[in-house]
Amino acid sequence: MKIRTQTLRDFKAQGQKFSVLTSYDALTAEIFDASGIEVLLVGDSASNTVLANDGTIPITLSEMIAFGKAVARSARNALVVLDLPFGSYEISAEQALESAITAMKQTGVAAVKLEGAKLEQIKALVGAGIPVMGHVGFTPQSVHALGGFKVQGRGEGAEDIYEQCLAIEKAGAFAIVLEMVPADLAQRITKALTIPTIGIGAGNATDAQVLVWTDFAGLSSKIPKFAKQYLNLREQLGEAAKNYRDEIRSGSFPSDEQSFS
Ligand code: KIV
Ligand code: NA
Repeated sequence: MKIRTQTLRDFKAQGQKFSVLTSYDALTAEIFDASGIEVLLVGDSASNTVLANDGTIPITLSEMIAFGKAVARSARNALVVLDLPFGSYEISAEQALESAITAMKQTGVAAVKLEGAKLEQIKALVGAGIPVMGHVGFTPQSVHALGGFKVQGRGEGAEDIYEQCLAIEKAGAFAIVLEMVPADLAQRITKALTIPTIGIGAGNATDAQVLVWTDFAGLSSKIPKFAKQYLNLREQLGEAAKNYRDEIRSGSFPSDEQSFS
């Protein structure tokens, strides 16, 4: 079944939880899509995971577009959402429109995500027919303003985040990511909204969960507390590479089986 933004709202109404994974390339997009992951996020986490930058601030719109193309071409059923990177939407609604339109035209993704309660930007995009996913709580593009990787919305900050979510829904977003917020706050927000919430480090009461695929697969060198490793791909790939090297050294690869007569 082809997943649309409306499908996700229907899931919420039916109490059916759904799954989101990041993807930045053709291979993982094809595999996760075939596994029934409902949403593929071309996250600006590609900045760290793929491009070896320190954080998400350096990645550019054209770099994001290259990843977005690969994922959109490879997903048959999943809804593909692309992160608008830092610097591509903060200045004005016009800037956000220009960036999102460029991304939509060049990639084939079905929606974009942006960080923070940028209500004018969200309204402008939605008005232009571009589905928007919100993202509040810990927003990595604002890491310097937030004073590091910290849980957001403890104590005083809880009301702010709650109000931001209501405003983002009202501005027309189709879903909201809640990153690193206390589980009880995420539950309260999830109950108050008609659009689905997608948690990461936000407890078990959200309508969906998202993980960075390299964390979920145990490929990242450092895995955050909120991520569960479903695989130990870093170790497995490392072992495979060692075996390959050993077999070349010993002369056992290639054998006749991999050779032409
Ligand atoms: O870029 C990303 O991977 C994200 C998710 C963690 C929500 O924004
Ligand atoms: Na992101």
